[in-house]
This record gives sequence, structure tokens and C-alpha cells, in this order.
Amino acid sequence: MTISPQDLATHAGPRYRALADALARAVGEGRLRPGARLPTQRELAEQLGVTVGTVGRAYALAEQRGLISCEVGRGSFVRDSTGPVHSLTGIDSLAEDGVDLRLNAPSPTAIDAELMAEIAALAASPSSMDLLRGYAPGTGLMAHREAAACWLAECGIQAEPERIVMTGGAQAGLYLTLAVLTQPGDTLLVEQLCYAGARDIALRLRLRLEGVAMDEHGIRPDSLAEAATATGARLALVTPSLHNPTTIQMPESRRAELIRASSAAGLRLIEDDIYGPLVDPAPTTLAVLAPESVVHVGSISKGILPGLRVGFVLAPRDVVAPLGQAMHAQRVNESPFGCGIFARWLERGLLRRALMAQRLEATARQRLARELLTDLDLVSPSCGLHGWLRLPGGWEPAEAERRLAERGVHVAPASLFWSGRGAPPRALRLALGRPATRAQLAGALRIIAETLTGSRANPNPVL
Ligand SMILES: Cc1ncc(COP(=O)(O)O)c(C=O)c1O
Repeated sequence: MTISPQDLATHAGPRYRALADALARAVGEGRLRPGARLPTQRELAEQLGVTVGTVGRAYALAEQRGLISCEVGRGSFVRDSTGPVHSLTGIDSLAEDGVDLRLNAPSPTAIDAELMAEIAALAASPSSMDLLRGYAPGTGLMAHREAAACWLAECGIQAEPERIVMTGGAQAGLYLTLAVLTQPGDTLLVEQLCYAGARDIALRLRLRLEGVAMDEHGIRPDSLAEAATATGARLALVTPSLHNPTTIQMPESRRAELIRASSAAGLRLIEDDIYGPLVDPAPTTLAVLAPESVVHVGSISKGILPGLRVGFVLAPRDVVAPLGQAMHAQRVNESPFGCGIFARWLERGLLRRALMAQRLEATARQRLARELLTDLDLVSPSCGLHGWLRLPGGWEPAEAERRLAERGVHVAPASLFWSGRGAPPRALRLALGRPATRAQLAGALRIIAETLTGSRANPNPVL
């Protein structure tokens, strides 16, 4: 085993955390290879002169961080981060049967045909060949960065195009940002319930994830500062608008507090604002409150369409060039054709109309969910694509997920989003935008109501 008592001696704080951190370092530095079997808890406790309970807690924390897997009867193993991980990436296609409420996607709207017609018009225009024939800088073509700046301005965020890097969606923006701002073994602070795709990135980049406590207003600034001190973290990822999965809309006062606390703790914030465009009126983003430090990641995936894979990072000036270089190393530049479609939609006023249509549809679907799940504890914002269903007493999320799947309704349990201590909350995320029609959604919601309450929901809701 590559961990010695000295590894723990230099670490302040509880022993189990020191051991989990030492394991993370060993994995990050390649001293513990994927698939390697770890000693039993008793063996390691003897080697290190700590209690078996300490090793047990350390293994549990390392497992929670996605570093190792503990298999009953077989032992504990270093996870292979190049293989499949337990996250939403496992849900890469629609379930073949029933209704899939797992992946958060926008709904079809009346503007879809116009969006398609503009793609055809761009393809037919002679300038398209220029887009397709050329390369672009890693940051993107200036015309597209300007389009992104206009779009951000329409969403209430003043941004200079020079601070924007075009990316293939917010996922790529998060990956790029974390690749530039971290080293393997670094700690990334996240909300204790956080977007599963962020956990996937952390695993790939060999970052240690540390979940920070939340309350009804989102991540707690005091807990964030404490976690920064305890772990030495310099970076935190937060989703202040329509938090995924809980739907929490962080109030303005909390946003200001968060900026103050992170600046005092020497933390840089990454703001994931993917759901922000759906919120009306637009809240003040962290990037507007602290443009010199916050890295803002967004895309058109939730307000318009995810399939085009258009997103952007709005970064402080000193971070822009490294992001462009990292993009160049990774894929040279984002598809200029995809960005060109985005710019054309914007220019024709279609993006705004498509967003308005999506907001209306999302509001109608949220209302439908509230109506049909009236006997359940559903957190449903007035806008946004998902709801957060707190399960009635007696229901475990895995059991609820299984029973609903048997009836053709596929949902995402809280465990997929959990990075905190102890057991995840007993809740399910419902992606309300995903079903093609409101009638399909209503059918799925009725099954949820029947399954979880044993009662029949109102059969004639207002659609
Ligand atoms: C909070 C959050 N961030 C980022 C993403 C990735 O978005 P994109 O499709 O733009 O890559 C998602 C997608 O579900 C998300 O929920």
C-alpha cells in the first residue's frame, strides 16, 4: 500500500478525512492504479495505527467522491475513471418503453419549424462554405463571440465579446474551465446536491469533490468558507438559478453574501447558469456581481435546444487566453457552423421568441405537475424544466425509482446528484420538459401520483 502514517501526520482535521485525502492523492498521482485492490479495513488500520472505524469512514468518503468502489464480499477497488461511472451519463438515450423523466431537456414548441427553416436557409447561403472550409481561433470567431455577448445581454448579463469563449454546450465549458483552473488532486467545492455531469468531470480530471451544505436559498456561504479552510480548496462550482436538481432560486441577498464569503476565503467561483435564461425577470448573476473573478458558464441547451451544442464561457480577462489554448489543444475550435446557426437565429430574433415559447411551455408543465401531484411534496418553481419530488414517508428513492420504472415512468433519484455526507435525501428529480407532449407528461404524472400515494389523481387537469 502506498500510504504511510506520515501521509496522515501532516494533515490537520479528522483522521478519516486525512486518509481519504491521502487515497485521493495516491490515485491522482497514479501510485494507486485503476482496478487496484485496497487492503481490508483491518489490515490498513494496523498498518497506519488508526482504528478500523477511521478506515471505514475514509473508504466511505473516498467512495462518495467516486475514487473507489466497495463491493460487499469482494473488497474495495480503485475505480477506473476511463470506464462507465454511476451518473447521468449512464442515461444516454431515452428509455425504450414508457415516459422518460430523467434527462432535463426543453420541450417542442411552435417555433421549432422556424428554427429548422433558418438552418436550411443558412446551409443554402454561399457564406456557409466559408464557415465550413475554415478553422477558427480556440476562443471562437469574433462574430460568434459577439453574438454570444448579445444573447447574454438579452439575458441580463453585460459581457464584452473579448471575454467570451465559444464551447460545445455548458458541459464542455465546465470541462474546459476545470481543466484550466485545476491540477489533479485539487479539491472542488460543490453544492451537496449537484449536477451529475460536474461529478463526471471531477472524476476524469481526478479532482476531489467536496459537497457543501445547502439550505432553502442554496449553498450556504458560511459552510462554503469552512469547507475552503478545511480542504484548502481554491475553487467552487455553484448553480444559483434554478438549481439542478432542487430547483432552488438563490435570492439576490444570498448571491451577494456568496461573493463576499468566497472572496474572503480566497475562492474563485464558477457559476453554472444553464437554467438562468428561463428565469424571468433575470436575476443578477454572480458574473455581474464579480466580473473580475467569477467564471460564468452558459449555453442555449435548456432555453432553446441542446442538440446544436452551443455554449459559452464568460471569463475574467486573465482566464480567456488559457481557455482558448485549452480549446485549441482539445478540439481546435467549436463548430463554426453550429455557432453560425446560433448567430443567425439571434439576428432574426428567433432565439428570443423560442426562449419565450419555452418559458411558457415550462410554466404550463410546472402547473400541470402541481395539479396532478397535489397530494405529494413537489417543489415546483413557476418556470424551469424540472421539479423536485420529496418522497412520502416510507418510500426509499431506489424502491420508488424501480416501482415507477415497472410502470413505464423513468425518474432520477437524489443519489445521482449527491456529494454530501450520509445518505442522500429521499427525493426524485422529474424532468418535466422531456415528454414530447403535455398529455404524455400528464400520463406519467398520474402514474407517479397513483404509485406513491395509492390514490388516483384528478383525471381532468387543466393542460
Ligand atoms: C446544471 C447543468 N449544467 C450543465 C449542463 C450541461 O449542459 P449542456 O447541454 O449545455 O452541455 C446541464 C445539463 O443538464 C446541467 O443541468
